[in-house]
Amino acid sequence: MPAVLFVCLGNICRSPLAEGVFRHLTRHHTGGEPLLVDSAGTGAWHQGEAPDPRSIAVAARHGIDISGQKARQVIGADFSRFDLILAMDGSNLSDLNRMAPAQSTATVRLFLDAPPCDVPDPYYGGPTGFETVFRMVEDGARRVAEEIGIRV
Ligand code: 4NP
Repeated sequence: MPAVLFVCLGNICRSPLAEGVFRHLTRHHTGGEPLLVDSAGTGAWHQGEAPDPRSIAVAARHGIDISGQKARQVIGADFSRFDLILAMDGSNLSDLNRMAPAQSTATVRLFLDAPPCDVPDPYYGGPTGFETVFRMVEDGARRVAEEIGIRV
């Protein structure tokens, strides 16, 4: 089963939600096989921090606990440890392509590979932005699961 890394800028708003929703959706559908799933940020500003309280809150409203996650920055080893690295927006994707070591073996692409393509950064917006992000992430996570052969 492929190892999946979700990536945004800070690893406190969008990618922790994607990781949490993906884990939640797939939890009973991997035939007992452990899944390697993680999230990370292209930037290091929030390294070691828990997700943004607004992301924790929107996940909790949907029955998902992401409060135990800790932000970290993408490292070179991620490009061989993970099979699929999924960027939340085009800017994250460009950054990832710049960060990828020459010996990268991962497939690096947008998390939403069909329009609207970008999961908008909700950091400077209000709480409705987080609800919008949650819905987009739910759709995307479902599609990724199907793509890698997990029927949810
Ligand atoms: P994220 O959101 O990339 O979805 O985690 C952001 C979090 C923090 C910042 C920007 C985006 N920041 O500038 O600190």
